[in-house]
Amino acid sequence: MENKYRLDAKDEAKRLEEQSSQDNYSIKNELHLAEVEIRPNDLVLDAGCGTGLLSRALIDLFPDQTFRIDAIDMTDRLLEYAIEETNKGHQYLNRINFQKKDICELTAKNIYQKIFSRFVFQHIPTREAQLKAAHSLYQSLAPGGSLYVIDCYGFLSHLDTNNTWLKEQIKKAEDSIPIDMNIGIKLRGLFLDNGIPANQITTRIENFKFETVEQRQTEANLWKQRFVNAKPLLNSILGEEVSTKLGNEYVSEIMNPRTYIHAQKFIVEVSK
Ligand SMILES: C[S@@+](CC[C@H](N)C(=O)[O-])C[C@H]1O[C@@H](n2cnc3c(N)ncnc32)[C@H](O)[C@@H]1O
Repeated sequence: MENKYRLDAKDEAKRLEEQSSQDNYSIKNELHLAEVEIRPNDLVLDAGCGTGLLSRALIDLFPDQTFRIDAIDMTDRLLEYAIEETNKGHQYLNRINFQKKDICELTAKNIYQKIFSRFVFQHIPTREAQLKAAHSLYQSLAPGGSLYVIDCYGFLSHLDTNNTWLKEQIKKAEDSIPIDMNIGIKLRGLFLDNGIPANQITTRIENFKFETVEQRQTEANLWKQRFVNAKPLLNSILGEEVSTKLGNEYVSEIMNPRTYIHAQKFIVEVSK
């Protein structure tokens, strides 16, 4: 199956930026949880950089350092947005080198002291390609370096609701779309199956918080945008009528206090 970003849509850049400005998706918290330190002369790889928000966050969070970043992605529209956004800040000047590249086709060996790949593996459509991506990233990591893969577990399907129609449609969608929103628990295995010893892998987990009305509202708004951007994909699987109803009912279930949502963020650190 072709590696292609299935949520590529006009407003996807805006959605990714909006998402990362929310507490549940805070890059600052993720870096803190993983105890990430960047050294002045590190060469960093942002693999699947999207709008470049993680690269810019690194420069903002470690302002005294002089490290440089290679930021790669395979989606033109997001790369264009990333370059435009990055040109707005003088602090980013000559620090981030954006390139169109598929992670699976990285050929660099032993050059990056830090690698980040955030919410990318869920979009790599087959286990074979995921294994290849894990291999490419590890191969390009310098000895002594650390690689951080951040992704989710439980999105979309891990909700308790009495709406049986919704649960059936979620199951159908989940079984058919080439996006794995339960990839979090499988990340460690992708590196183990590439022959990397378990003692080089650390897994950290954080629960997404959907308790308060504000947290639910924020997530509901993000899902509205996700359903709009995933519409062509969902329409092709469920048909337009069912896909529209699924989006509406899912968003309203998130706002229903009866609904319990269990989702986690996995941060898998691999050292070399
Ligand atoms: C959900 S976005 C996340 C973007 C960014 N890392 C963030 O945290 O907002 C997933 C990104 O991964 C990119 N992507 C998916 N598979 C890829 C691959 N095989 N090689 C390069 N980029 C990939 C997509 O183009 C998209 O920009």
